[in-house]
Amino acid sequence: MNERTTSSHIESTNLFEKELEKPTIFKDESKLSINYIPSILPHRENELKNLINEFRVIIEHPMKANRKVLITGPVGTGKTAIAKSFGQMLKSVAKKRNLNIYYHHVNCRRNRTYSLILKNIILSFYSAIPSRGYSPEELLDILKDILIKEKKYIVLTLDELDYMVDKSPILYDLTRLMDEEFNSDQYISLIIIARNTSFLHLLDKSTRSTLQNPCITMKKYTAEQLFDILAERCKEAFYSGTVSKEILEQIAETSAEFGDARYALELLRVAGGVANKECNLKISPEHVRIAQSNIHPMIKREILRDLTYNQKILLLAIVRKLKKEETVYVEISDVEDQYAIICEEFNFKATQHTTNWNNIKDLETTFGIIKTKVSGKNKRGRSTLISINDAPLELLEEELTQLLEQS
Ligand SMILES: Nc1ncnc2c1ncn2[C@@H]1O[C@H](COP(=O)(O)OP(=O)(O)O)[C@@H](O)[C@H]1O
Ligand SMILES: [Mg+2]
Repeated sequence: MNERTTSSHIESTNLFEKELEKPTIFKDESKLSINYIPSILPHRENELKNLINEFRVIIEHPMKANRKVLITGPVGTGKTAIAKSFGQMLKSVAKKRNLNIYYHHVNCRRNRTYSLILKNIILSFYSAIPSRGYSPEELLDILKDILIKEKKYIVLTLDELDYMVDKSPILYDLTRLMDEEFNSDQYISLIIIARNTSFLHLLDKSTRSTLQNPCITMKKYTAEQLFDILAERCKEAFYSGTVSKEILEQIAETSAEFGDARYALELLRVAGGVANKECNLKISPEHVRIAQSNIHPMIKREILRDLTYNQKILLLAIVRKLKKEETVYVEISDVEDQYAIICEEFNFKATQHTTNWNNIKDLETTFGIIKTKVSGKNKRGRSTLISINDAPLELLEEELTQLLEQS
């Protein structure tokens, strides 16, 4: 290191140290992260109790029973939280009784195919699977073998099932596995989480009927409920006296329109960050307003992040075209022109119309980010029209550009 880099190194370390010396309103910011599951879930006690009661049989009669439970409800209503919280309780109750019961939670947005889901489960038992390409049937046999030979019982949650590519085969196989071996030992139970029950129509009649009941339906949170959730979380995340009751009410009322606890907690976290940056040890209403202008409940960062690179470019093309035209709808052909330009900008090889069309359908039906409709007849015949109504284009563009530049 020469003298210059040494001194700039010291300077930047000092800068780091200096920032660390600044007071902060966060006692523990990680308590506001999306992955954190609090030990108390206000206003979900009944749903949690229902879940526990459904599954008490697998503790009372080990390896002799199985359960299938469906949990539905809009985004941010605590579906993942109650399943994970139940999983933690199940683990400790089973451990206390020396039962070989495992809880495994798979996110189907991250693991979108049958094989990926099975691999994910098997990897939770063994740290590696030989890399040769196994078929789903072979993977299912491997899993069965592990469970039977080692007398393991697994409660498997398939979360965000809406995003799974082909839902039918895995649900068919798993439910068959549970039903057929009725009199022999049991080794698997299922919790399925989806936004709503519409996926049931894709299934054959008998699979559908075994999955329909029981169903725990979560409703959007009211402003009062969101207030309680925020207040509880505040105690863990902030130093006392930094967030007033009025601020919590402001955030709760703003997010009540969506009934979404995730958005409410994110607003609180971002508002806290804004206050911190100003070295202000109290969140003000203006900090909340600034936070509100920076995030939007309909733009889910984790969903945008998981789109393929090509889908991100295509979505950016739709956003830019809608912005430029200032119309409600844009035509697919115009979007594809814009898409070609952005591909050049990011040095990416543009894909053909069929692929783009499939991606557009995916952005609509799987991810719910855009809407499409077919136009009335014009000079060029009929064409597909695309719109985005739920999210501000400006924020969406910013977020997508950032993601594309990072990858
Ligand atoms: N009743 C609750 N009490 C405390 N936190 C909650 C509650 N419901 C949801 N949350 C929190 O809100 C966020 C969104 O909840 P989540 O379970 O991910 O919603 P969903 O899976 O229905 O989209 C998570 O950070 C979760 O911990
Ligand atoms: Mg969830």
